[in-house]
Amino acid sequence: MTKIKNIGVLTSGGDAPGMNAAIRAVVRAGIYYDLNVTGILRGYEGLIHGDFIDMDRKSVANIIQRGGTILKTARSDEFRTAEGRKKAFEQLKKHHIDALVVIGGDGTFTGANLFTNEYDFPVVGLPGTIDNDLVGTDFTIGYDTAINTVVHAVDKIRDTAESHDRLFIVEVMGRDSGLIALRSGIGVGAEAILIPEANMGVEGLVTRLASGRKDKSSKIVIVAEGDEVGGAFNVGEVLKERFPAYDIRVSVLGHIQRGGKPSCMDRVLASRFGVAAVEGLVNGRSGEMVGQVNREILFTPFDHAIKHIDAEEVSPAWLKLVEILSL
Ligand code: F6P
Repeated sequence: MTKIKNIGVLTSGGDAPGMNAAIRAVVRAGIYYDLNVTGILRGYEGLIHGDFIDMDRKSVANIIQRGGTILKTARSDEFRTAEGRKKAFEQLKKHHIDALVVIGGDGTFTGANLFTNEYDFPVVGLPGTIDNDLVGTDFTIGYDTAINTVVHAVDKIRDTAESHDRLFIVEVMGRDSGLIALRSGIGVGAEAILIPEANMGVEGLVTRLASGRKDKSSKIVIVAEGDEVGGAFNVGEVLKERFPAYDIRVSVLGHIQRGGKPSCMDRVLASRFGVAAVEGLVNGRSGEMVGQVNREILFTPFDHAIKHIDAEEVSPAWLKLVEILSL
C-alpha cells in the first residue's frame, strides 16, 4: 500500500445542505493526519479541467452552517466518457494527488466506481443528496434539512388551506425516490402521500379521499415528483374533475428544498462522514461509500450503494402508518 500524502475533495451532482460541513471535516481530518488537501471546483468538470485550489484550516472556517457547497458542483457529461475520465486521471497525476474524496449521490458514485476500477485510483465517497436513496446508510447528508424545509413550507400551506377549506396538492423532490415525500408527508399530517414505491395511482388517491372523513376543512396530498401520476398538476386536473365541490390548489416546492442552513443532524452526520472518509483512505480503503447504519460507521462498495433505496425503507409498515394516521 503506497502512503497517501495528497488528497483531493469535490462535490458533484445536486447540492445538498451539509456538503460544506463535509468539506470542512475532510480538510480538517486531512490536516490532522498530515495530508495536503486540494479542493476541486465544480465536481468532475473541474477535475477534468484542472480547476484545483489549495485548502487549509482557514479556507473551511465558518462554513459548517452554510447551505450549498463552497467548491461548487456540476453534473458532468464528459466524465461519463472514457476520454473524460482519462483527462481527469492525467490532472490528478499532474497535481500529485494520490486519493480522492467525492461527495454526492448515485451519479457521483457511478462515475467514481468506473474511475477507481479503470485507474486503480483510491476513491472514497460521502453520501450527499437530499434524496436519501442510497444503500448502506440510514441517512444521506442533506435529507434531514430538506424534509424539515418541506415540513416548514407545508405547515404554512396548511394555515391557508385551513382558512379557505381547501385541498392542496404539494409536489416534492426526490427524483425516482419517494423518501422525501414519505417522511415529510407523515411530518405534516398529510391526508395522502403518493410515492413511486407504493403505486397508489390517481384512482387509489380518489378512493382514499372519497372514503376519508368529510368534516376535515383542509386536506394536504403530498406527491413525490417521481410518482407515476406525473406530477402535482396532473393530479390536480383529475381531482378537480372528480371532486368538483373541492376547492383545489397545487404547489410545487422545487429547489427551496435544496437550499438553506443544514440542520444539526446533517452537520454532525457530514462531520462524522468526512473524518471517516479520510481515515478510510489512510487505511487503504477505496471504491466505497461511508455510511451510518444504526449509529455505526460502515463502508459499502459503490456498486452496491447505488442500487437505490433499501427495500426496508418503504416497507408496507410505513404505508400502513400513513393510512392509520390520515383517518
Ligand atoms: O438529486 C437531488 C435532486 O434535487 C432531485 O431530488 C431532483 O430530481 C434533481 O436533483 C433536480 O436536479 P436539477 O437541480 O439538476 O434540476
